Amino acid sequence: MTIHIADDSDLLAELAADVIAERLSSAGPDIGLAGGGTPRSTYRRLSHRDVKWATVTAWMTDERHVRPDHPDSNAGMAQRVLFDHVAGTLHAVSWRESADEAAHDYARRLAGFLPAGVHGPTPTTVVLGVGGDGHTASLFPGSAALAVTDRDFVATQVPRHGTRLTATLPLLSRARLTVFLVSGGHKAEIVATMLSGDSDLPAARVARAAPEVVWLLDRDAARLL
Ligand code: 6PG
Repeated sequence: MTIHIADDSDLLAELAADVIAERLSSAGPDIGLAGGGTPRSTYRRLSHRDVKWATVTAWMTDERHVRPDHPDSNAGMAQRVLFDHVAGTLHAVSWRESADEAAHDYARRLAGFLPAGVHGPTPTTVVLGVGGDGHTASLFPGSAALAVTDRDFVATQVPRHGTRLTATLPLLSRARLTVFLVSGGHKAEIVATMLSGDSDLPAARVARAAPEVVWLLDRDAARLL
C-alpha cells in the first residue's frame, strides 16, 4: 500500500491525473472509474494529459439506476468531463427498466473487454472514491451487495440513495491496482479508520482484498494520520 498526500484538493486532482495517465500508458488501457466530486476534479485534469486515448477503454465502478442522460448519472459526468474531450471509449451502463437486468448486462459487457484472469475479468486499474460513511463504489455499510461472491456487478437498494448498480468485492478485488481518491477534512476520520487496518467498512474491505493499493489524499483528509 502506498499513500501520497497533496497539499490541497487541486494539487490532489493534478497528482491523481498524473498517476492515472502514467498507469494507462505503462500498465494497460482499461480503467474503472468512480462517480463523485473528488474523481470528477481528477477527470477534468486527466483530459489534458498525454495518453494514447484511442486505446483507452473505461467503465463505471458504480452507477445510479437512471438513464444515461440523467443529471445524476456517473457515466454522464465522466462523459461530459473527460470522454467528450478525448478519443477514449467509456462504456456506460445500458438502461434497463430492471436494475438487476442492467447489472447482469453490464457484467457480461465487462467480461467482453476487461483482461481475462484466472478468476474472471481482471481490471488493470480501478479508481475509487470513499464516502463519509466508508462506502466505495456503491458498496455501502450493511449492504447485501457486500456479501455477493458469485457476480461481478449487482443492483442494490441503498437507503436514502435509491437503487444503485455496483461492482462487487469479487470484481474489485481482482483489480491489479486500486487508486483511492479522498479529499477534505470531513473525510479525515474515515481515512484514519480505513488505514487503521482493522476496519470492516466497505472501502477498507476493498483495500484489504486488492493486490495493490494507492491512497491519494489531500492534507485535510490525511490530517489524522
Ligand atoms: C458515487 C460514487 C461514490 C463516490 C464517493 C466519494 O456514485 O457517488 O461512486 O462512491 O466516489 O461517495 O464521493 P466524493 O469524492 O464526492 O466525496
